[in-house]
Amino acid sequence: MSSQNAIGVFDSGLGGLTAVKEFLHVLPNEKIVYFGDTGRVPYGTKSRDTIKKYSLQDTGFLLSHNVKMIVAACGTVSSVAGAMLEETLGVPYTGVVNPTVFTAVRVTKNGKIGVIGTPATVGSHSYRDRIHKLNPRLEVYEKACPLFVSLVENGVIHRDDQITRLVVRRYLAELKDKGVDTLILGCTHFPLLRDAIGDYMGEDVTLIDSGYETAVYAAKVLREHDLLTDSVEPKQPEFFVSDTPEGFESVAGLFLGRDMEHSVTQIDIEQY
Ligand code: DGL
Repeated sequence: MSSQNAIGVFDSGLGGLTAVKEFLHVLPNEKIVYFGDTGRVPYGTKSRDTIKKYSLQDTGFLLSHNVKMIVAACGTVSSVAGAMLEETLGVPYTGVVNPTVFTAVRVTKNGKIGVIGTPATVGSHSYRDRIHKLNPRLEVYEKACPLFVSLVENGVIHRDDQITRLVVRRYLAELKDKGVDTLILGCTHFPLLRDAIGDYMGEDVTLIDSGYETAVYAAKVLREHDLLTDSVEPKQPEFFVSDTPEGFESVAGLFLGRDMEHSVTQIDIEQY
């Protein structure tokens, strides 16, 4: 395996771009190959078997690009299929659960951590179990927020939007009442709602975003495997999706702050 090969990053849709954005800061000279399964999003309301099957196809596509590491930039995949991927991929792997949990456990002061994610993520209790492995005395409160994914996929994310505010309040009231001082955004779509979530939870609550933590963790894993690139040239990521690229290009362009027109390729994921 060459250290010059790309890092494969994937998500069920565009949520994983929150991680790509951080990778571009933390590891600017690494080549990123990104796959967003826009034709089959959302994963978070699907069965465990379906999520595992999709994850194997997604990683099969990335492996066909000879990637040196795979990152599941998706809370749902990391929670439901993480152990399977770690065992079967044959290249270093990380999801978003471990890196995020390490940080949450370190920053909480009152020992009360909230976790929000898709129904599949919350149903797996992946974050809660991982937190309790590190410190069984911490209190963990979990809440599935499926509508957050729809808000993000449809661009209804502004902090002043009445619908956004209403949905945020509906889902987070319970966690606020419990007095959590740390809230894990356990889904890579949720950082796009960060302003609205922060406004509601208040400034005393620390929001933990999986993107940055995962990029830093991936750098550590690559270093340990002697797979960090020695290139000093910044690289442009390559993007692939399983539905028409247009919608993805405009949201991704806005999000990454660059013109993405004609820079996203559609593939047939069922072939992998
Ligand atoms: N990106 C997914 C996650 O992090 C949310 C979208 C979906 O349900 O597929 O869980």
